[in-house]
Amino acid sequence: MKAKNCLIFGGSGQIGRNLIRKFTKNNYRVTVVTRNVHQKSYIIKTQANVGYIEIVEANIFEENKIRDLFRNADVCINLIGILFEKKANSFRNIHTIFPSILAKLSKEYNLKHFVHLSALGINDAIDSNYAKSKLEGENRVLKNFPLATILRPSIVYSVDDNFTTNFMTLLKRLPIFPLYYNGKTKFTPIHCSDLTDIIYHIISKNIYSNIIECVGPEILTFREILEKLLILINKKRIFFPLPLPIAEVQARFFELFPNPLLTRDQLRLLKYDNTVSKKYKTNSDIGIPSVRYFDEEVKKYCYMWKDGGQFSTEKYKDKNNFEVKTN
Ligand SMILES: NC(=O)c1ccc[n+]([C@@H]2O[C@H](COP(=O)([O-])OP(=O)(O)OC[C@H]3O[C@@H](n4cnc5c(N)ncnc54)[C@H](OP(=O)(O)O)[C@@H]3O)[C@@H](O)[C@H]2O)c1
Repeated sequence: MKAKNCLIFGGSGQIGRNLIRKFTKNNYRVTVVTRNVHQKSYIIKTQANVGYIEIVEANIFEENKIRDLFRNADVCINLIGILFEKKANSFRNIHTIFPSILAKLSKEYNLKHFVHLSALGINDAIDSNYAKSKLEGENRVLKNFPLATILRPSIVYSVDDNFTTNFMTLLKRLPIFPLYYNGKTKFTPIHCSDLTDIIYHIISKNIYSNIIECVGPEILTFREILEKLLILINKKRIFFPLPLPIAEVQARFFELFPNPLLTRDQLRLLKYDNTVSKKYKTNSDIGIPSVRYFDEEVKKYCYMWKDGGQFSTEKYKDKNNFEVKTN
């Protein structure tokens, strides 16, 4: 069988790197588009065996350059996404206009598949600009390429994420930790490998299903996630529910930084539960239920946030009977 050529946008990110490994290990050839080859190619190149990966530098809005890449592609996967806006990197440009261009080109070049990553819960979060831009992007994608598959994952975690790793850093440093909306917002965290298994299944088995909600095996509140992380890194912290007006002032202050920890738009998004809507198919419905549990997976990499770092792992304790002092 002829190997499929996959054209991947956003391959340097958390999901992209994991996906490149999965595809190339299974003899797919991938072309990864990056906006800065000098900064990103070492991260991308090391995810694949030689000969299976090509890296192309392009501004994603240079349609002529992008168009050329579609000539040899069988499938296209869009993983480009942002959490906050920065100049021309607006939600509208990245989540609405760009995916609609990719869908249009996928149709024009008769691609077998176009998989687009959206996000769970965007129908409900009507006051979030992030959610609105994702929803509008989905509509345009389906209009331009009706056979596209749109994936809506809940929060995605792994050793390469900006979620568990950032929270473990903050929990390690801050003695008191703020809770937004009393920490009651529900999530269904999905491990990055479970999500890329779903993408691989869709491409390899030619599954066409317009919208699929991708969730992990557990429903956890924001507070429960933090509590689990605290247990994993052996820390005790005080949580305090932050009143919304104060949280907004805090988010407005964070927005002054180039990489804000929290924006007002994210704060609005946090108000809504991130669980299945029951209106669309889920990954379980297409035969790929998530199999990785939050504690078990985070346990594999949380040791770097524990006192003693790598020497706090069971491996070192067993070998040298080395006990690490914890707070
Ligand atoms: N991670 C989650 O919890 C989660 C949850 C729901 C939905 N999603 C969606 O899943 C997709 C992938 O997520 P991820 O976690 O892999 O994200 P990520 O790690 O932040 O990676 C995002 C990717 O987008 C690229 N990108 C951002 N702005 C760009 C621009 N202006 N031009 C070109 N490339 C740009 C980044 O390239 P550079 O490396 O050059 O910056 C990177 O490759 C996104 O659409 C995201 O919205 C993620």
